Amino acid sequence: MRTIAVMNQKGGCGKTTTAINLAACLAKKNRRVLVADMDPQAHATLGLGIGIGDYAQSIYDLLAGEAEHTLSTGDVVVEVSPGLHLIPSDVMLSAAEPVLMGRNHREYRLSDVLRQVEEEYDFAVLDCPPNIGILTFNALFACTEVIIPIETGLFAIHGLSKLLETISLVDARRRTRLTVHALLTMFDRRTRIACESLNEIQKHLQGRVFATVVNFNVRLKEAAGHGKPVIEYAPDSAGARDYMSLAGEVLKTKVKKHSAARELDEGGDGVLFSCYAPGAEKVFVVADFNGWQPGRTPLMHEDGSGVWKRFVPLKKGRYEYKFLVDGKWVTDPANPKTAKNEFGENSLIEID
Ligand SMILES: Nc1ncnc2c1ncn2[C@@H]1O[C@H](COP(=O)(O)OP(=O)(O)O)[C@@H](O)[C@H]1O
Ligand SMILES: [Mg+2]
Repeated sequence: MRTIAVMNQKGGCGKTTTAINLAACLAKKNRRVLVADMDPQAHATLGLGIGIGDYAQSIYDLLAGEAEHTLSTGDVVVEVSPGLHLIPSDVMLSAAEPVLMGRNHREYRLSDVLRQVEEEYDFAVLDCPPNIGILTFNALFACTEVIIPIETGLFAIHGLSKLLETISLVDARRRTRLTVHALLTMFDRRTRIACESLNEIQKHLQGRVFATVVNFNVRLKEAAGHGKPVIEYAPDSAGARDYMSLAGEVLKTKVKKHSAARELDEGGDGVLFSCYAPGAEKVFVVADFNGWQPGRTPLMHEDGSGVWKRFVPLKKGRYEYKFLVDGKWVTDPANPKTAKNEFGENSLIEID
């Protein structure tokens, strides 16, 4: 199974439209496809015509529910059409973040969920929420590849560096490398700005941009409103043509299939600390577990990727830490959990 995460912390750039329609086009090309809706807004669920009452359990129950030990992924899957299945989401999913934060291996929950159905599908497509939190990290650890939809136009690449940084941070913790491609969406060929942003994105991503661009096409919006993929709602539209073309390009892309689960963290309790600091001379993790002694736990810098890391064996418990990057204190940007104190705040980690 190949697992494609559709990701961008910007809202409204075409993530859900891409997830739904790429999935439907892959199914049309006779692939067995599972969509996992990872957004509490549930736009992918609604866009595939599934509403409250059509399902008993959701992605929340798989990721964070009480029944996590007995529920199997297949129990939650809804059939949208032959060959196209969905793990639905709803607003409950917004409660997953605090629940997951207190758990060990919290960023591997989705990997565990998807591994159960690895043989049943050719593709899983993950529709991510518009932020970089625990759900997005789960998608990054579960996927083999990432598609970043980018709305063509002014400020198209704004925020892109931050996203690429986060992706490379996770990439450094995985055994197999992620394949990352940008996809231009809502493209209007008649405008100069469209061509300019295409050039800018190509420069920024050094060729990791799909040749297919998705043109602005109102049928895509209408289709979602009718709860249908565009190839069903308007098979002759430009939207249907563009997403069929994307599916063709995806099928041609060579990707290493793997399960990312547990990866480098495997074997013993502890935490792999990683910090993205390109060009830095020295990076330390300074924490209560090393007595807040700056020089004790240096991070290693490996392959010129700008990512510094170190595995620290730790017993169960609650730990506070900060990174010291060339003398500057920073909280861990990859860890949304913090503890406030009189001096400011520390990053917080809990191992249970
Ligand atoms: N290529 C397109 N042409 C016209 N409208 C589009 C296109 N792609 C997306 N949209 C519309 O733009 C809005 C935002 O798209 P969506 O896929 O929901 O973005 P995201 O999931 O990133 O928030 C939706 O109303 C959607 O129907
Ligand atoms: Mg969306």
